[in-house]
Amino acid sequence: MSGGSHVPAGGDRRDDASLDQSSEPASFYTGIVPLVYAALRSRDSDDVAACADFVARTGQPALELGCGDGYPLLELREGGLDVHGLDSSADMLARCRIAASARGIEVTLFHQAMETMTLPGTYRAIFLAGPTFNLLPDDATASRALARMRDHLAVDGAARIPLFVPEPVAPDHLGVPRTHTADDGTWMSVAAVAQDRDVATRTQRTRLRYEVHVPGSAPRILERDWLLHWYTPDGFAGLAEAAGLAVRSMTTPDGDTAGVGSQDYDAVLVHPSRHAVGTS
Ligand SMILES: C[S@@+](CC[C@H](N)C(=O)[O-])C[C@H]1O[C@@H](n2cnc3c(N)ncnc32)[C@H](O)[C@@H]1O
Repeated sequence: MSGGSHVPAGGDRRDDASLDQSSEPASFYTGIVPLVYAALRSRDSDDVAACADFVARTGQPALELGCGDGYPLLELREGGLDVHGLDSSADMLARCRIAASARGIEVTLFHQAMETMTLPGTYRAIFLAGPTFNLLPDDATASRALARMRDHLAVDGAARIPLFVPEPVAPDHLGVPRTHTADDGTWMSVAAVAQDRDVATRTQRTRLRYEVHVPGSAPRILERDWLLHWYTPDGFAGLAEAAGLAVRSMTTPDGDTAGVGSQDYDAVLVHPSRHAVGTS
């Protein structure tokens, strides 16, 4: 990445024949990544409650963008909410289908990217459960995703998009893995091994090394670039408005209106006609 700082750790691994080094943003959550992600992900019941509350207040049917392997989509379905899921990773959706079937939950899933999605209907609530929107690599892709959201949003609907500004990885954390050992002895880890951060383009690219060691099998190792792109509240509002949406609110976790320097906020977008008449 030009114009950013580059902090390598752990040496040059290009000679490691066992490495899968695919770096396409759309294929990030494939291969062993979903396995390690599911094992090490933190689950916060407040996030599920926030999504359930948004859908219950905003309306149904609802659509979760970046539903992944079904968290919190399956909890919402179990709670009786009419929520469909969309994700760009076939591997994540396969895990979601298996989990849904094991729990006896019916799901409607679409294997599409949010920036090109073309779905059969419209939704009264469109939401992302976490800051997956920050995975879109640049403003142009974000603009396309916002335009697709507008076209899939019912006129009385609303879209909720959590956003954040990532912290750079501290140099002494590079190469330090987070690990998990499963009951069958399978050992897995993920570590940031290098990072570029470019404040001018609001983009951070972190090289992550994933490992899965199943007893008695060859280790599976891959490295992926985890790309995050962030927005100022004003910049995001400009993109939303250019895509034909109006900002109803941008709120920090403390309930304040997001402003310059906010690191973490939820944007709620609606059709401009609805915003103009002040419908809540
Ligand atoms: C951080 S995971 C979140 C998964 C799940 N909702 C959770 O909270 O555990 C992000 C998900 O977004 C998906 N994703 C990334 N970029 C996407 C895009 N452009 N369109 C649709 N899904 C995308 C990934 O495949 C992945 O499953």
